[in-house]
Formats: sequence, structure tokens, C-alpha cells
Amino acid sequence: MHHKNDDNRHPDQPPLFTWEFAGDPYPAYAWLREHAPVHRTTLPSGVDAWLVTRYADARQALADQRLSKNPVHHSEAAHGKGKVGIPGERSANLMTHLLNIDPPDHTRLRRLVSKAFTPRRVAEFAPRVQELTDHLIDGFAARGTADLIHEFAFPLPIYAICDMLGVPPEDQDDFRDWAGMMIRHGGGPRGGVARSVKRMRTYLAELIHRKREEPGEDLISGLIRASDHGEHLTENEAAAMAFILLFAGFETTVNLIGNGTYALLRNPGQRERLQRALAEGDESLLATGIEELLRYDGPVELATWRFATRELTIGGQRIAEGDPVLVVLAAADRDPERFADPDILDLARTDNQHLGYGHGIHYCLGAPLARLEGRTALATLLRRLPDLRLSVDPAELRWRGGLIMRGLRTLPVEFTARP
Ligand code: HEM
Repeated sequence: MHHKNDDNRHPDQPPLFTWEFAGDPYPAYAWLREHAPVHRTTLPSGVDAWLVTRYADARQALADQRLSKNPVHHSEAAHGKGKVGIPGERSANLMTHLLNIDPPDHTRLRRLVSKAFTPRRVAEFAPRVQELTDHLIDGFAARGTADLIHEFAFPLPIYAICDMLGVPPEDQDDFRDWAGMMIRHGGGPRGGVARSVKRMRTYLAELIHRKREEPGEDLISGLIRASDHGEHLTENEAAAMAFILLFAGFETTVNLIGNGTYALLRNPGQRERLQRALAEGDESLLATGIEELLRYDGPVELATWRFATRELTIGGQRIAEGDPVLVVLAAADRDPERFADPDILDLARTDNQHLGYGHGIHYCLGAPLARLEGRTALATLLRRLPDLRLSVDPAELRWRGGLIMRGLRTLPVEFTARP
């Protein structure tokens, strides 16, 4: 990571996109919110973009239909130097997924996928998520130490979504490897990532083909079956949809479990309160607590790319047609204009309309699954390993340097071994 950024940086402005910033971006965001709430900066990739940091502006921008998700509206894309999107994706023909399209295509595809990926289907999946969670904890409980990212937060969502999609168990470790490649090199060398995306695409295309012949009760079969006014997804659309479910539902959930556990370990009073509530069979603090963990240190630091389809203003700032706009969810969710004591973790917080899942038509489709996984993972960890603690100094922890996501590379812990 480097920072050629901010040609127009004010002398008092904390630097963006350094390693120090990756460890704790909140002071820099507080500065921007106060002094430059809609701020143009040069990203480490060399692309210029506007950062929107106040809650009110962020919420408005997320729902603003004049901001397109389609990269063809990027002024730089027209010059062939657009550097946005998933590496390898352009060639992989997976571009037409929900996060890259606008109405009316978005409306049609989202309605179709919503028929297959229903809250009810997610709820039915709860026992399986519990089983996966317990199985992963069994893997390290007797040792007394673990890296909760690699051994827990990382495998749980990948196995969960593979199960839901209907990827057979014997193929799921391939997904684990491909996903590992994508998460490790998200912002780095592109060759390996592009290869992993390509393998996933080929695999999904074959799986969809097979499921068309022999449908089951899984989500892929549901995607193929889903119809709206007689309309169905094409095989290509179904593959892009399966891919976006994997892609959007994977690293986000890793970070919810990782950032969430870390926040609890750093806030012992809150953690004890939650442990006490769980011991008494009271899950209400867990429910508000997951939302608070999403607000306090959520998995998605910046919402995905948006591009101005015409000149417009956000928070009084003029944005030119073709300019990219990045809504900084992590900054908006700490805005003191919206949240009382925003830098305090309060698991019982109720007035908590955070933007961690976005807002408007692109609001997270996977929120029910994310909540299920987050609640199950954290509650089970705290119940089974009640004296869980960090085994390194927090200053030694490293955060991934990607632009969009915020998450830990490792989370080394220790606890009383339970054979
Ligand atoms: C969209 C966050 C888990 C699937 C989004 C967006 C956010 C988000 C912020 C909107 C991005 C934008 O507008 O730029 C999260 C968080 C998660 C999580 C914090 C975990 C804690 C999941 C899971 C799935 C999923 C588990 C599916 C399995 C999607 C999809 C979209 C989306 C498909 C695109 C929706 C659309 O464009 O209509 N998510 N997500 N997410 N999420 Fe999630």
C-alpha cells in the first residue's frame, strides 16, 4: 500500500490508505466528516474518486438513482483506464450481477433471485449453520489456541454458502482454496485471483448445467426454477448470480465474525454482559449486539463504486458527470450527528439504523444469512470458550489493505482447552 493520494490534502488531515490508517481509519474519517465531508482523493490504484463521509449524505447518495452502478458511466472507463470491479471479471462474463447494474435490469434480476433466496430458506438453514460452527470449533477446542480468522471466520461462510448453493461436499475445499486466493490477494497480484475467478466460473457453469438436468432443493436449483411473469434467468445470469452470492457473502461474513469477535475481546464489559445474557437464555442482546458490531466496526468500509450519470451535488459539493463516488459506510456509521457516543460499543443500542448493509435498492440481499451466521458464530464461541482472549498485543494485529472491505488478517486467541 502506498499513498500518492490527496494532491489537495490539508496540512492537518490525517493520511488515508497508509498501514496506520488501515489499522484504525476512524480518526481520519472523523476529520473528513468535519472538514471535508465530500472529499475528492486519488486512490492507491491511481483512480480519482469522491469520498462521502457524513451519515445524511451517505444515506442519500446510496439511494440516489442518478448515481449508477454500471462502470460504463465512469469517465475513465471511456478512456480505457477504468480500474474498478472484480479482477478477471470482465473476461469472465460475470459483469451482469446485481452490484453492477441499474433498474430496470436490476429490478428484474433482484426480484428473480429474491424468489429463490428467501428469508424462509435461510431460516431453514439454521441447524446446518450451527452444525458447521460446532464442527469448526471442535477442530481447535482441545488445543487451547487458535487463529480465529483461518480456522473459524474464513471457512464458516464459504462452507455455508456452498451448502446453500448445492455444491457437493467433496468439491467445497476447492471453493475454499479459490476463495482464499481471492481474499489473500484481493488488492494485490491479479493473476492468481483472475485464475481463481475463472475456475469458479467454469465450475459454476457446469454445476448449473447439471442442476438443470437433476434439480434438487438447493439454491442453484431454485435460481434455475425462479420465474417472474414467465421469465427465467439465463444460465449465464444464474452463474453470475451464484458468483455474486459467493463473492458478496464471503469476505463480508468473515469480517463480521472477525471484527465482531475482536471488538468483543477489546470491550470486556460488553462481552461479559453478552455472555451473562446468553447463559440466561436471553438472545435479545445478541440480536441488537450484532447490529451494533456492524455499526461499530463493520465488514464493508466503503460501499461499492457508484458513478454520476449527470452533474449533481452531494452535501453542497458539485460532482461532475462520470465521477466515481464512494460512500464511506464506516465513517457514516460513526457520525455523531446520527449516533449518540458513536465511538462507544453499546450492544444494547436500539436507535441504530446503521448503513452496514447499505441502503436503497442495493441493500444487502444476504442480510438474513449474514445475521444467522454472525449470531450463531459469536454466541457459540462465547458459550463454548468462555475465557476466550487475545494471545497477542492488539498493536501486532494486521488488517487487510483492500479498499472496500475492512477485516483482520489473523486473530490469534487462547482459552482453556476443552478436550
Ligand atoms: C449488497 C454488506 C453478507 C449478498 C451489500 C451491500 C452491503 C453489504 C453494504 C451494498 C453495497 C452497495 O450498495 O454498494 C454485507 C455485510 C455482510 C453481507 C456487512 C455480512 C455481515 C452477505 C451475504 C450475502 C450477501 C451472506 C449472500 C450470500 C449480497 C448481494 C448484494 C449485497 C447479492 C447486492 C444486492 C444488490 O445489488 O441488489 N451487502 N453483506 N451479502 N450483498 Fe451483502
